[in-house]
Parts: sequence; C-alpha cells; structure tokens
Amino acid sequence: MQEKILDFLKRKQEYISGDQIAHRLGITRQALWKHIQGLKNMGYDIVAVPHLGYRLISSPDRLFTFEVTDDLNTQFIGRKIYYFDSLNTTMNVAMQLGFKGSPSGTLVLAESQSHGKGRLGRHWLSPKYKGIYLSLVLRPKILPANASILTLLAAVSICEAIKEIVDLDTQIKWPNDILVANKKLGGILTELNAEMDKINFVILGIGINVNNDRKSLISSATSLREQKKENINRISLLQELLRKIELNYLLFERRGAAPIIEKWREHNVTLGKRVKVYCQKEHIEGEAIDIDKDGGLLVRSDSGLVEKVMAGDVVHCR
Ligand code: BTN
Repeated sequence: MQEKILDFLKRKQEYISGDQIAHRLGITRQALWKHIQGLKNMGYDIVAVPHLGYRLISSPDRLFTFEVTDDLNTQFIGRKIYYFDSLNTTMNVAMQLGFKGSPSGTLVLAESQSHGKGRLGRHWLSPKYKGIYLSLVLRPKILPANASILTLLAAVSICEAIKEIVDLDTQIKWPNDILVANKKLGGILTELNAEMDKINFVILGIGINVNNDRKSLISSATSLREQKKENINRISLLQELLRKIELNYLLFERRGAAPIIEKWREHNVTLGKRVKVYCQKEHIEGEAIDIDKDGGLLVRSDSGLVEKVMAGDVVHCR
C-alpha cells in the first residue's frame, strides 16, 4: 500500500488531496494517514496542508525494494529482492537462497555489511548508505570451467552503468577490479556451487564505492562522489547496473563469450602491460598479452612461454 501511495505522490509533484488518494486506493483517510506516518518514519519528507492535501518533498537515500523495482523493467534480474538495512555479508544470504532454489536473478541488497567479503579472503569495507553492496543468484547453463566469464560480464556491466548514469569512464584491471585514476572503485566476488560438469548456481557479489568521502576510503580506493565531486543517486545507478547485467547476460546466452570479452577488452588496463600475477604461493611475471575464451589471462614470460592464469592478484609493473 505504501508503494501505491508513493506512486501517487511522485506522479503528482504537487499537493494531492487525502480524499482523492484514499478513494482511488479504496482505503479510509485514517488508514491513509497511518501509511503516511509509516513513510515519514522511513525517511520520506511528506507535508500535509489542510484543504490542499499531501505533498512529497523528498525521498530518503535508501535502496528500498519498491524504489529499486520502480520502472526497472528487467525480465529476471532483480525481480525478487531481499533488502537488509545491515547484514554480515550479502554473499551468505544469497548462498542460502541458492540452496533453497531461489530463481535466477534473485537479488540480495544490504545498506551496510559488517563482514563484507573481498577476493582472496580480504575484507570489503561497506559503510552504511554509502555504497552498493549486492549479491545475485544466477543459474547459468554453462560448465563450471566457464564461470569466470560471469565475472567479466559483471565488470563490463558496472563500467557501462557508471558511464550511463554518472558519465565517468572506468577501467577494468584483470579480472575484476574496477578502477578510476588507478584507484579501486569497485570489485566483484564470484562464488560457485557446482558439480564436476554442472553449475547449480553462481553468486555474483558486487561492491561499488558510491558516496564515500575521502576520509572513509583507504588510500588505494576511490568513490564516485570523490571523482564527480557530488553525491550520486544510488537507486538510479543500481537500476542501471541490473539492466546492464541482464542485457549482457542475455547477450552471452545468445552469442556466447566473444561479445562479452570484446567489451571487456575495451575497458581493460591490463593487456599489453608487464604484470606480476600472484597465484597462491607462486607468482608469474611477464607481459599480459590477451584473455582467452574462458576469461583466463595469458601471460608471456621472458623465456617466451605463454601461461594461462585463471585466478590471482595482478600487479601492473609498468
Ligand atoms: C574484491 O575483492 O574486489 C571483491 C569485492 C566484492 C564485494 C562485494 S560487496 C557485496 C558482496 N558481499 C560481500 O561480502 N562481498 C561482495
């Protein structure tokens, strides 16, 4: 009901009489008043003026489910949303939903995470109402060996959504660090539940620093707010990200990995560079020459040997 009331108020952008809203929604004025109080408690600034009615002045900066689904227009990504004001990590909740059989595209969103997970056991700082922290349950019909493509697909989608909404060019460091001005803006963590030859589900975790101010960021990180010198609308960015993920996912289903890899190449800053790739206890050094059809990084060492790396931490040497 609150969602419908908000819809009225947003559409009107001026005073609308309580009688009119109550009548159209088939509720009493008393019930309407209660819902309006509920919306105010959620942070919506709604004024009520005798003889004129209600008017929405401003909406809070919250990723409420009904704000995210409003005009989202996706087929399956984000059709089902689990929203939390705070959580340990969206990854664990999404994993449980995956086991319970939640449909592909199910989205877990948190306004903050106490134990945000980064790659390679690192911590992902997730301050409240500042970033976008999400995990998506996906059920792709691909082999476990090809799952890395989904990480590249997510990286491309993040760059595209940021360009569209914020008009900022971002780069991808293999496999999935989103950079601006050589600083980390976002990251992707992919977890898999699979058998030898079949993926049961994938959890795609995405973190983006959106409205963090400089003092809350580590020196190697940045945020959209820092780059653009203004606050960014997290709802619009999240919606666009979900749309881009869906478009790229459908493209991948139709035409395979090639168009995704092509887009990834356009944004990448790793290929052509001399790199050190740290994988578990060893490291490989050489020139990053390409990525292959599975998303693996091809590194040519000084001896001329080309090695393929599927996971690891890349340091650009020059
Ligand atoms: C990286 O190390 O670059 C990956 C960071 C991934 C962070 C996101 S935030 C939402 C989701 N939940 C988590 O705990 N981690 C991912």
